[in-house]
Amino acid sequence: MISVVIRRYLSKDYWDVLQIDKEAFSPSNAAYDVYLYLKYGSVIFVAEINRKVVGYVTVMETEEGNAKIMSIAVKKEYRGLGIGSKLLDEAIRWCKTRGKRKVLLEVRTSNFVAQELYKKKGFKIIGVTPNYYSDGEDAYIMALNFEGQ
Ligand SMILES: CC(C)(COP(=O)(O)OP(=O)(O)OC[C@H]1O[C@@H](n2cnc3c(N)ncnc32)[C@H](O)[C@@H]1OP(=O)(O)O)[C@@H](O)C(=O)NCCC(=O)NCCS
Repeated sequence: MISVVIRRYLSKDYWDVLQIDKEAFSPSNAAYDVYLYLKYGSVIFVAEINRKVVGYVTVMETEEGNAKIMSIAVKKEYRGLGIGSKLLDEAIRWCKTRGKRKVLLEVRTSNFVAQELYKKKGFKIIGVTPNYYSDGEDAYIMALNFEGQ
């Protein structure tokens, strides 16, 4: 059994998060992505194995009293080990304790792995944003509603 520690982001994690973002999403724009997470994100959690950062999740509080998962990624060689699930659990817990009504996110319509993860946590597809991504791909909007829970 691997031991995964989920903790708050510290400034020393910057380069690790940058590398994970670069590998997962944007080879050329990772620095801008991380700049956005630090500027607009309300919280970043990282996952550590043997003190090595192997994943992160970023949450942004929105004006409507909701929250949004800005990004979640796990280093390729550590995927499929339950780390994304643990990160998302922590993000959801954080949103609940802050009294958020809903957690929203966007996901590529082709990203079945991430969609499976989100569905497992109770997220439902509530809409589609056409051409959401710079390459023209549509995004599903997914939501986890705490009201009535
Ligand atoms: C999406 C991502 C964060 C998942 O992280 P992970 O650590 O690999 O996920 P976990 O091992 O915790 O798996 C959680 C659930 O996701 C789904 N899942 C994970 N890998 C899967 C695969 N290869 N195929 C289908 N479903 C998969 C399953 O539902 C899984 O639950 P299970 O293990 O009980 O079956 C990871 O794949 C990643 O970094 N992808 C690239 C970045 C990305 O696409 N982020 C999402 C942007 S919206």
